[in-house]
Amino acid sequence: MRSYHNKVVWITGASSGIGEALAREFANQGAILVLAARNVQKLNQIKDTLPNAEVHTVISLNLTDLSNVDALVSSVIDHVGRVDVLVNNGGISQRSLVGETPLEVDRKIMEVNFFGAVGLTKSLLPSLREVKGQIIVISSISGKFGFFLRSAYAASKHALHGFFESLALEEASHGITVTMVCPGKINTEISMSALNAQGETHNEMDHNQETGMPAEVCARQIVRAASKNKPEVLIGNKEIIAVYLKRFVPCIFRRVIAKQKAT
Ligand SMILES: NC(=O)c1ccc[n+]([C@@H]2O[C@H](COP(=O)([O-])OP(=O)(O)OC[C@H]3O[C@@H](n4cnc5c(N)ncnc54)[C@H](OP(=O)(O)O)[C@@H]3O)[C@@H](O)[C@H]2O)c1
Repeated sequence: MRSYHNKVVWITGASSGIGEALAREFANQGAILVLAARNVQKLNQIKDTLPNAEVHTVISLNLTDLSNVDALVSSVIDHVGRVDVLVNNGGISQRSLVGETPLEVDRKIMEVNFFGAVGLTKSLLPSLREVKGQIIVISSISGKFGFFLRSAYAASKHALHGFFESLALEEASHGITVTMVCPGKINTEISMSALNAQGETHNEMDHNQETGMPAEVCARQIVRAASKNKPEVLIGNKEIIAVYLKRFVPCIFRRVIAKQKAT
């Protein structure tokens, strides 16, 4: 079992939802946090409510612009000494049909969810090797099957599996471990910031989000799985059964998934 006491944990998307709940869970376990997102004001508010607030660091990070990521990583390492755990959590969802979605919206979703995680990870890799660190990737059950209104979102999450499963094989000899997390429906504001076909925010709290698992419960299960170095974990309520249906009885899966409500 890994202990996170006095470990430096860098969380992207820490200003809301699962990232915020992960910040609380890791801080409760004695971790030293690097909280990253675009909304620095919100990050500072969260930091101030965490145990040992003074040891945590807030940084501004836009996952669509990693042109200065190496300088950012260097400044964080200079400030906190090392990074033991990177949590690639920041992301946006989608609520639009393939037939109505211009390519730039697909690219934007890939940029945040896939290239954002890839770019930051590559920049941090040398220092993660030094401490035999851990990478936690917040994918989704949409990383396991496609779904209505989620074409680019599901593609970005599938892509994370391909990339980070390859990285896990390559980096095992350097002592780096990877935990892929596939949440189902979690009660966060992700549907609010999801992009529609115009590339604007959906701005609606969807039923699936409102009735989902509390983010705190999800975060607790993520940290437990990561502490056991699990390569992959499914987290959610009955919706995660769909992953098993697809794997073991794909013909039943196709009938069931076609009847689900998209929001
Ligand atoms: N909620 C669910 O049902 C669910 C299910 C499966 C997987 N997930 C995954 O869980 C992760 C967290 O989502 P959530 O549900 O907690 O949603 P959320 O409450 O909307 O949080 C998303 C986080 O991502 C950050 N973010 C968005 N765009 C960004 C950008 N361009 N640069 C940097 N940070 C950015 C946001 O911060 P700023 O706006 O401050 O930048 C925010 O902190 C996502 O990867 C999502 O795909 C969620």
